[in-house]
Amino acid sequence: MKNILETKELIKSFGGVHAVDHLSVNIQEGQITGLVGPNGSGKTTLINLLSGFSLHDGGSVFFGGAERKKITPWENQIYNITRTFQQIKLFDQMSVLDNILVIITERNPFLALFERHSKYHISQAEDILKQVDLFEKRFHNAGELSYGQKKLLEIGRVLAMDTKIILFDEPFAGLFPEIIKKIENIIKALKQEGKTIVLVEHNMNIIRNLCDHLIVMDAGKLLAEGHPEKVLTERVVLEAYLGE
Ligand SMILES: Nc1ncnc2c1ncn2[C@@H]1O[C@H](COP(=O)(O)OP(=O)(O)OP(=O)(O)O)[C@@H](O)[C@H]1O
Ligand SMILES: [Mg+2]
Repeated sequence: MKNILETKELIKSFGGVHAVDHLSVNIQEGQITGLVGPNGSGKTTLINLLSGFSLHDGGSVFFGGAERKKITPWENQIYNITRTFQQIKLFDQMSVLDNILVIITERNPFLALFERHSKYHISQAEDILKQVDLFEKRFHNAGELSYGQKKLLEIGRVLAMDTKIILFDEPFAGLFPEIIKKIENIIKALKQEGKTIVLVEHNMNIIRNLCDHLIVMDAGKLLAEGHPEKVLTERVVLEAYLGE
């Protein structure tokens, strides 16, 4: 097993709040790693630090063993990493299809130079929309979609990025069981393809169903880690949740 992503004594503070507090964790290649913890325990802050949306105050982040000093979101393609947001971020005024096409053409700027939306790009985008059950909606504006469909379109955009590492920040929040099942299956398929996944999630049934490894944070610190079934019965973990 290989560490693809690693933090050592990582620190991020906001005023007096230690959002991430001397956190050292390892993310194994090809696994689904769950990231859980009470509200405000620093999960999103960690995702922000790993994906360059926020700069750490101390400690280090390693990608494949090499330290990544300054992290910026536009370097993510180089580091082969994609993240999602707790708040949906789509281009509402663009069609569902175009929301996917912009990513595919950005990824292949050379091809896009000759033919912005080549048949090849469009068929790739349509394949992705079929995977997330939005093919029928491809000509609708993203803004017209239901909440669940917007979440699915976000997952489609992740598929279009096609990076080795994917960080999901609560992709299941507020969804009906039917759509949860759908996204669970997509995440399982991503793992089959060899992707490395970090999943922030509050629902422990989903964690048990999907994750190979679990990291529990509390007040910015590492509270416990290991196999989900084992970690979720540890006293410190139960207490952290009961105290919420
Ligand atoms: N931009 C910011 N400015 C000030 N404080 C922040 C900022 N971002 C996060 N915090 C604080 O850092 C702590 C960790 O927040 P974070 O959003 O990382 O928690 P979380 O584990 O993702 O919580 P949730 O489960 O509610 O999404 C909280 O106390 C939060 O108020
Ligand atoms: Mg969060």
